[in-house]
Amino acid sequence: MTKSTAKVCTNGILLAGNWKMNFGKKETLQFLEALRIAPQLNAQMRLYIPFLSLESARNFSEVNSLPLQIGAQNISGEKSGAFTGEVSASMLQEIGIEHALVGHSERRQFFGETNESVLKRTVGALTQGMEVLVCIGETLTERNADQTEAILSTQLKLLLADTVCKEAFGKKLHVAYEPVWAIGTGVTASPEQAETAHSFIRAQMTEKLGYSIANATRILYGGSVTPANFKELLACPNIDGGLVGGASLKIESWTQLWNLIEA
Ligand code: 13P
Repeated sequence: MTKSTAKVCTNGILLAGNWKMNFGKKETLQFLEALRIAPQLNAQMRLYIPFLSLESARNFSEVNSLPLQIGAQNISGEKSGAFTGEVSASMLQEIGIEHALVGHSERRQFFGETNESVLKRTVGALTQGMEVLVCIGETLTERNADQTEAILSTQLKLLLADTVCKEAFGKKLHVAYEPVWAIGTGVTASPEQAETAHSFIRAQMTEKLGYSIANATRILYGGSVTPANFKELLACPNIDGGLVGGASLKIESWTQLWNLIEA
């Protein structure tokens, strides 16, 4: 699957990096200072970075007119109050941050996030005007037990039934498919495996929300994306960009990924 195929999604490509718990403020600014990228007509670049560097990264990006959006890696669904350790939408908006990642598999695995809490965070964030990229994906055990579609469908179910989410899909709510077995392992889903999952996700959305919303929703692939495999993944009709961990931490690979997107 190397030939470029027409995209189903009408919203263009998103190259998103997830820095996870890497880079403090100093390294963040060093990275951005070294970043040399030209804007692309049909693509956006975004970095989800640790809370502490959000404000300086966003300011740097704005002052230097970088074609780059900055987002948070998590967000509370609550407005304010007794929620120790959480960060609210209004706190993020006060420093100019409009994007948040929700439900990353590391949040689900290590911090007890469930489909219910992911829904709550997503709805709360959307209600307060944020844009959300919600992550779903199966584990290796689930894939080997032939449960990939059942898991994806369960992870999507609450989101597809919620009134706020239904209204936001394709506008302020998009999806990242990240098979857990491909995250940080060096094992990427093949373009065929990824496309199969993405078209299943799109079909679920079409069934519940109709074609126009489903086709406006970006479905990003994440899991060991590198400059060596990104082009083939991007050639798939239902893959609308990447959510990149390791390769987003090095200027060279990150720039290469951006330049692989065809105008
Ligand atoms: P890697 O690209 O390091 O596999 O990480 C993927 C990921 O979890 C992005 O959110």
